[in-house]
Amino acid sequence: MVEPGSTFVVMGLLNTDSIAYAAGKMVEEMGGKVIYTVQSERMKRIFFDRSPDLTDEEKAAMDIRYCDVTVESEVRELFENTGPINGVLHSIGFANPKTCLGEQMYTDAVEDIKQAFHISCASLATVSHFALERMEKGGSIVTLSFESQVAFPYYNWMGVNKAALEALVRALAREYGREHVRVNAISAGPLATKAAKSIPHFAHLAKTWRQMSPLPWDVVNDKQEVANAVVFMLGKYSKKITGQTIYVDGGANHVGGVLLRTEKPFKSMPARKKKLAQERLERMRALQKSHQQ
Ligand SMILES: NC(=O)c1ccc[n+]([C@@H]2O[C@H](COP(=O)([O-])OP(=O)(O)OC[C@H]3O[C@@H](n4cnc5c(N)ncnc54)[C@H](O)[C@@H]3O)[C@@H](O)[C@H]2O)c1
Repeated sequence: MVEPGSTFVVMGLLNTDSIAYAAGKMVEEMGGKVIYTVQSERMKRIFFDRSPDLTDEEKAAMDIRYCDVTVESEVRELFENTGPINGVLHSIGFANPKTCLGEQMYTDAVEDIKQAFHISCASLATVSHFALERMEKGGSIVTLSFESQVAFPYYNWMGVNKAALEALVRALAREYGREHVRVNAISAGPLATKAAKSIPHFAHLAKTWRQMSPLPWDVVNDKQEVANAVVFMLGKYSKKITGQTIYVDGGANHVGGVLLRTEKPFKSMPARKKKLAQERLERMRALQKSHQQ
C-alpha cells in the first residue's frame, strides 16, 4: 500500500474505464498524490468530455499533464517538472488493429509494427530513464502486461510486444536495483477498456478467460483487483519484488487448458459452498461405512 504523502506519475489515462484511472484513484484513496498523463492536449479534452460521471470539482482536482511517450523531449520535460516522486505506473499500449491485430501475423506494414513496439514496449525504457532522476530515495516502476507465454487469436503483434515488455522489465530491474528502484509488470486478464475494445474478437478472449480461470473473472469489476495489485507493487509492502511479472488474471495462466464443468467457479458462493460441504460429509460417511464393513 502506498504511503500517505507519496507521489506517483500515472501514465495512460484515456477515460474512466482506463486501468490508469482505477489505479490512480486507489493511490489517492490511500493518501498518495497522483500526476496523471494523457497522450496529448486533445486527449485531455476527450477525457473530460467522455467522463460525465466526474463532477467539475473532481475534474478540477486532477493534476493531468501531456506526454506522448514516443517523443523523448516530452518524457524528459514531464519528469523535469514533477518534483521528487516515489514511482510510476506505465499503463500504455497501442498497435494498429488493422495491421497488427488480425487473422494472420504477416503484415507488410512494418512502420506499424515499429510504432506498436515503440509505444507498447520501448517507451518503458524511456520513461524509466527520466523517472529515475526523480526517485532520489528509490522507488517503484510498474507496467501492464497480458499473458505472453502462449498465443491468443488476433492478439498477434501485441502479444509479441508484451513478451518483449516482460523481458525489458527484467533488464531494467537488473540495471536499476543498485539505485533501489524496482521494476515489475502486472499481467492482467481481459478488461473492458478502450484499448481492449480495439482488439478484434475481444469477446472471444473474455469467454476464453471464463473457461480457463479457476477464480471468477469479470471484465469490468476486476479492474479494481488489478488496481489493488498495482498499488501493492508501487508501495512499500512489495519492497523485495523486482523484475517480475505478477499475474492478476484469476489464475488463468497457471492452469492447463479449459476447466471441467465441476471445476468452474460457483456463481453464488454461500449456496454452493453449503452443497459442497454436504457432498464432502456424504463422501466421508460413505468412507467410514466402508471401513466398518
Ligand atoms: N484491458 C485489458 O484487457 C488489458 C489486459 C492486460 C493488459 N492491458 C494493458 O494495460 C495498459 C492500459 O490499457 P487499458 O486497457 O487501460 O486501455 P486504455 O485505452 O484506457 O489505455 C491505453 C493508454 O495508452 C495511451 N497511449 C497510446 N499511445 C500513446 C503514446 N504514444 N503516448 C502516450 N500514451 C499513449 C492511450 O492514450 C491510453 O491512455 C496497456 O498496456 C494494455 O495493453 C490491458
